[in-house]
Formats: sequence, C-alpha cells, structure tokens
Amino acid sequence: MGLQFPQGFLWGGSVAANQLEGAYQEEGKGLSIQDVLPHGVKTPPTDAPTKDNLKLIGIDFYHRYKEDIKLFAEMGFKTFRTSIAWSRIFPKGDEAEPNEKGLQFYDRLFEECLKYGIEPMVTLSHYETPLHLTREYNGWANRKLVEFYTHFAKTVFTRYKDKVKYWLTFNEINSILEHPFMSGGIVTPKEKLSLQDLYQAIHHELVASAAAVQIGHEINPDFKIGCMVLSLPTYPLTPHPDDVIQAMHTDHQNTFFLEVHARGKYPGYMKRFFQENGIQLDFEPGDEETLAHTVDFISFSYYMSICETANSENQPKSEGNLFGGVSNPHLPSSEWGWQIDPKGLRYILNLFQDRYQKPLFIVENGLGAADQLTPNERGELTVEDDYRIDYLRAHLLQVAEAIADGVEVMGYLVWGCIDLVSNSTAEMKKRYGLIYVDRHDDGSGTLERYRKNSFHWYRKVIGTNGQCL
Ligand code: BG6
Repeated sequence: MGLQFPQGFLWGGSVAANQLEGAYQEEGKGLSIQDVLPHGVKTPPTDAPTKDNLKLIGIDFYHRYKEDIKLFAEMGFKTFRTSIAWSRIFPKGDEAEPNEKGLQFYDRLFEECLKYGIEPMVTLSHYETPLHLTREYNGWANRKLVEFYTHFAKTVFTRYKDKVKYWLTFNEINSILEHPFMSGGIVTPKEKLSLQDLYQAIHHELVASAAAVQIGHEINPDFKIGCMVLSLPTYPLTPHPDDVIQAMHTDHQNTFFLEVHARGKYPGYMKRFFQENGIQLDFEPGDEETLAHTVDFISFSYYMSICETANSENQPKSEGNLFGGVSNPHLPSSEWGWQIDPKGLRYILNLFQDRYQKPLFIVENGLGAADQLTPNERGELTVEDDYRIDYLRAHLLQVAEAIADGVEVMGYLVWGCIDLVSNSTAEMKKRYGLIYVDRHDDGSGTLERYRKNSFHWYRKVIGTNGQCL
C-alpha cells in the first residue's frame, strides 16, 4: 500500500500580508506595527517607517497577486493561506467604518483564488496590529482591543462570507509570551511587563478569539474557524525525572492556549501557575460563556523541536522560531540555527490529536535558506534547492505516518510558498519559497519571479496526492 493522504487533502502554501504585500500606504492603509519593525523582533520599533524596512514594498504582491496566484494554481494548490492586513480595513483600528478600498483589494484577491479553484484561508491577525492601537491603547493589554478586533472580524466575515470558508483567529498566539510587541502590540518592554499584565492580555486575546468563533458561525454556519499556535515539541534532555517535569512545564506554557481554544476553559495547571505567581485574571461577566465557543479545528506552524532540562545553565542553546531552547545533540540545524526534526511533526500531530480530539491543519512548515539563482542546463534561471525538497519530503513522510497512526489531518501548507520578507529577522536572504523573487536585503532587484526545483517537485506531490513522495 502506498502513502495515504485522504481524498480532498488541502495541499497548498501560506504567507502573511505584512511579509509580501508591500503598498504600505496605498488606498488608505494605515500603519501597522510591521511598518516600524525594520529589522524584525530583535531590535526595538522605530518612531516612523524607515527606508531600510523591506516590508514596505515586500515582494509587491499587492500589485502582482494575479501573476503569483497563477503560479500557485500551476502547482495545483487547493488552499492558499494569507492574512488580511487589519490596517487596510481599519487604518487606525478603532474606527466605526471600514476602508472600502481595502475591502475591495481582498475581494479581488479571493476572487482570483476562487477562479482557479483555490480555497482561501485567512488569518485575522498575523503580527500586524494597527500601530495606533499599540500607541493609544497599549495593544492587547487593553480590554478595548476585544471590541476593536471583533468589529474587524465581523466586518470581514460579513464581507467575505461567500468567498472564504477557512479562518484562523491569531497567528501563533503563544508567541506573545516571548514577543509582546510583535505578537500583542504591547509597547511596554518585555522586561517591564508584569506577569499579571501579560496573562491579562492573553486572556483578552483568548476571549476575542472565542467571540470571533461565535460571530463567524452566526454569520455563516459553514465557516471552519481554527486557532493557530507555534508548535514546539519539547523533549526532556535526559530521562532524569526533573528534566521530564521541566519539559512538561515548558510544554504547558505553550499549549494551555490550545486547552482554552479547544476545551473552552483554563486547565488546572494554569490556575496553579496564576495562584503561585499572584496573577488574578479579570474575567468580565460573560467571558466564561464566550470561551465555550471552541474552535472547529487546530492549526499550527511546525519548524523545530527543543529540549528542556532542569539544569539549563551550561547547556548549548539553539536558535529558534521566536522561541529558542536547549539544543538537541541528535539533530542537524538549518543555516539559521533552527534544529531540523521531521519526526517531531509526527509526534506533535499525535500529541495534539490525543489531547484535543479536533481535526489538525499544518499551516506552516518550510526551510529558510540562502538560495542562489543560477542557470540550469537548459539555460533557464532557477534555484537548485534540492535541500528544500529533502526537508519538505522528510516532513511530509512523517505527516503520512501520523495519518497512518489515525490522526485526522486536514491539510499541509508550505510556509512562504513564494519568497517573502522573513519575520523574525526581516531579511530577504532567508528564503522559503518554491518561487524565487528577485529582491535583496539592500532593496535591489527586479521583483521578477522564477520557479525553483521545489516548484516542480511540489506540483508532482500535489498531482499524485502525495503518492510520489
Ligand atoms: C512563523 C510566522 O513564526 O514562522 C511567519 O508565522 C514566519 O510569519 C515564519 O515568517 C518563519 O519565520 P522567519 O522568521 O524565518 O520568517
């Protein structure tokens, strides 16, 4: 028996508005936090947009989306995940009336996808909170954000109710633990942010997410609305029970978000954590009922796993996707120091299924590498990215294993299916795409698109529903 991917498996690719659209001030768009983060998460925001911020132009997807979606269709995409830039619809975030021009852009974009039979999947908030909401309200630390976000959600749910079926509420919601500004629009520096304020902000997001699920289902009962976390399988560094317990604690910190999203309430271990840390969540009347609106499915990004130990002081650390961890001595790393662990994907799929019993969707997985555009033997410019093919194949084989284990997997999306500006370091050099875009860290480049070797490979994978892996 060959590899089994279910009929109707949603193959495709994934991006975020702020990393590729550009047009940062066009047709009424307001500034988002990304417009003042020229170098990613490691440096503080600037006062105003600066020329060295590659996201201001991105890969000019705003003007070239037709060409790009045609290329996605050529690969056979069933699904294309992007986000709606909140500040295109509500430039400041707290207006009553949306920006019609912004709404029209996404009408055109989704129509273009549907023209090729590609199902759009939309993230409502992907690290692009309107800047005004951070400066005026301190982002999600303020309860008012629940109101602004649900107004935004209701507006776009209503507008696109016949065009978009799959929605995600917050991208990698757990990343707020490490990056309160980028993930939660909170201007208070992380070192000064109290645990009380951090977990209150998280509570606001969780309530807003559940409220969006409720509103979305009222607008269109056929909507499938999911949550999205940064998944991080956390292994004990040794079998020492103290390491096992430490790994459990780290895992709990990351996955309690899923407990609330999928079961509608805070787990016991978080109640203990709140108590031991003097945190008293301000639950408004109605919050408990709102949280009961649980998600239809769980989605997640998967790039790497980490280790944990009770004695981490002298242990080598690995870089990571927004979170680092103790290095695993058994795993290789990418050029950016992220440890590569295909089996971790099978593990996390099983773990999430065992715990939450909800359908799962891998909405990000891929390899960031410094690709080189060179002529092939026919003289065509391409990228011989066989290392990316190896990476993707190894991960997909583990998805097939998880499916054989009985896990319900809805689909798989390659992150950054077209080269775009990376998030954590805001570079072009770190490329994930199956399509190369001629743009570079110094801002030069023609913005021309080129098919990489992985483009042709992925087309075959989709065309055979994974049989050719
Ligand atoms: C995820 C984000 O953290 O990983 C994406 O949802 C991001 O926005 C992706 O681009 C890869 O990370 P990076 O930092 O290499 O772009």
